[in-house]
Amino acid sequence: MSKLICDIKDHSLADVGRNRIDWAWTEMPVLRALHDQFIREQPLTGARISGCLHITTETANLARILKAGGAELLLCASNPLSTQDDVAAALVEHYQIPTFAVRGENDARYYHHIAVALEHHPQLTMDDGADLVSELHKNRSDLLSELIGGTEETTTGVIRLRAMAADNALAFPVIAVNDAMTKHLFDNRYGTGQSTLDGIIRATNILLAGKTFTVVGYGWCGRGIAMRAKGHGAQVVVIEVNPLKALEAAMDGFQVMPLLEAAACSDFIVSATGDKHVIDHSHFQVMKDGCVIANSGHFNVEINIPALQGLAKKTSRPRQFIEEYQLEDGRRIRLLAEGRLVNLAAAEGHPATVMDMSFANQALSIVYLWNHGKNLQNKVHSVPENIDNKIATMKLAAMGISIDTLTEEQQAYLTSWKEGT
Ligand code: ADE
Repeated sequence: MSKLICDIKDHSLADVGRNRIDWAWTEMPVLRALHDQFIREQPLTGARISGCLHITTETANLARILKAGGAELLLCASNPLSTQDDVAAALVEHYQIPTFAVRGENDARYYHHIAVALEHHPQLTMDDGADLVSELHKNRSDLLSELIGGTEETTTGVIRLRAMAADNALAFPVIAVNDAMTKHLFDNRYGTGQSTLDGIIRATNILLAGKTFTVVGYGWCGRGIAMRAKGHGAQVVVIEVNPLKALEAAMDGFQVMPLLEAAACSDFIVSATGDKHVIDHSHFQVMKDGCVIANSGHFNVEINIPALQGLAKKTSRPRQFIEEYQLEDGRRIRLLAEGRLVNLAAAEGHPATVMDMSFANQALSIVYLWNHGKNLQNKVHSVPENIDNKIATMKLAAMGISIDTLTEEQQAYLTSWKEGT
């Protein structure tokens, strides 16, 4: 057994984890190409990196390439329910990466793991939800002077970091990986779309065809969920507060209405908003008997669970990921995965094919920060455009797709204002 510092569930799961990590690797051609490049060029020699990420097979492959590129990497979980314990074991036993993540860990252990990740004295941080950066600023400001930069994976984390930057509280530059085109257009839409449906189906095994399926939020994640639910034959309702997005949902062919109206006729309600209590007390009071509610946003605040608990006269656990709340009038409301992100808690998160691009953005942004972070302002930065384009080009090549290029005449036309009719 490895003597590496770690807190994981079971070292004996390491071989199972390694097999699954290798399986994901076969779907990650961009990371494989970067792996070869990183071995040759050693772009991260000596970089101390702490990553607070979902500990999945895909994250393990990101970790593999960062380590191959010379980084001293330590990982902790970015959510108490998303850790794949076999992957955590493989990271420690087969890849010698110190890992602090146990599926189902309580809040105290979760924050203890983040504290250990900070004790690593990172020069670079990788976050998914901004808990690492937030804890660093709140509780370990003594370490801030060592920081060169950080990356942020998800919409919720970017929102938090922008709030910090607006308060002049952000003490180092952070790259918003989420905002790269090769991240959110694919990961948030197709990744969340498929994996959320996967989580709901694994948790309930209920047929979606013919059911009313309500999606709260029509950002990139909500769009993906609605699109895939429609593909399963459900009648899809979209709830949105933004008039432009609501209009888009209507023209994409979905019914759009307030949640109070939709709650009374929905068989499934899924949130993907990044905001708090979007499924609330008033909605529980009108929900149809048997309604399944789930969240696909980063934090477990989107469903007002304390309000649901307050309304319930009885609770039971009919299946592994289902908590059934029975109300005074006999109606049952079924909450999936404790309101945590259902795609990672009840399924395996986004498939490797999309995480390939998201994590290529992570890897190349980390190298960019290692090289240029000291010259960047302490704010939230975009992924450099050349990185985004490089990843799209590499992914197309790996998929065997070639595309046309502009002729010189066309290029000149696009940069001229003189030609008209
Ligand atoms: N976020 C969503 N899906 C993920 C996955 N498979 N690995 C890491 N982070 C994720």
